[in-house]
Amino acid sequence: MSSKIAIMGAMAEEIEPLLDKVENIKKIEYAKNIYYEATYRGREVVIAYSKIGKVFASLTATILIEKFGCDRLLFSGVAGAINPDLKIEDLIIASDLCQHDLDITVFGHPFGYVPEGQVCISTDKKLREIAKEIAKAKGLELKEGVIATGDQFISSKERKKFISSTFNADALEMEGGSVAVICDALEVPFFILRAISDSADGSADIDFDTFLESSAKISADFILDMVEKIE
Ligand code: ADE
Repeated sequence: MSSKIAIMGAMAEEIEPLLDKVENIKKIEYAKNIYYEATYRGREVVIAYSKIGKVFASLTATILIEKFGCDRLLFSGVAGAINPDLKIEDLIIASDLCQHDLDITVFGHPFGYVPEGQVCISTDKKLREIAKEIAKAKGLELKEGVIATGDQFISSKERKKFISSTFNADALEMEGGSVAVICDALEVPFFILRAISDSADGSADIDFDTFLESSAKISADFILDMVEKIE
């Protein structure tokens, strides 16, 4: 099947390692953002970074699908660790994503839920399987778990504990849960990969600045291996 694969990040640093490796780049400006049509080992890809947060990520995911016709979406970037087994530069794939800052609990609903929505949305199983095969072939450890998303940079023990205990989440970031909503609604298989940049604690801001580039590159390199393997 011939297809177009969307690859998105939230920040420039998350897509720059991709742009260094793809070929035949064509830049398109749309909706105050830049989209890069390109090829990688003969596969058509469209690459963009959304800017940080759920609203921008939703906009970019929608445009990649609706305007550029992408029929698969891969997200590459960094995350804060919740699970203590996750160390800086470790890779985690999302099994499910939720929105930790979505709160109408006063009306008796659970955190992360609005009527007609879902607390958690699962990523595509086939894409996860491909990721696991690549990790195995490369001898890389790849964790799988719940990733919690919110429009907040988390750098406190208390908030991290709330997210961990409420959603049983292993990592957190600021876009995946909204990309999940878009891809689920538009019935596009999607995959979220993150390399750990910090532990969402008191030193998260410093760690994030220190490890953003190196962790983003680890994630981006893995995503390109996936592009080659996707049928
Ligand atoms: N992405 C990477 N680290 C993060 C953190 N601590 N909070 C929110 N998003 C992140």
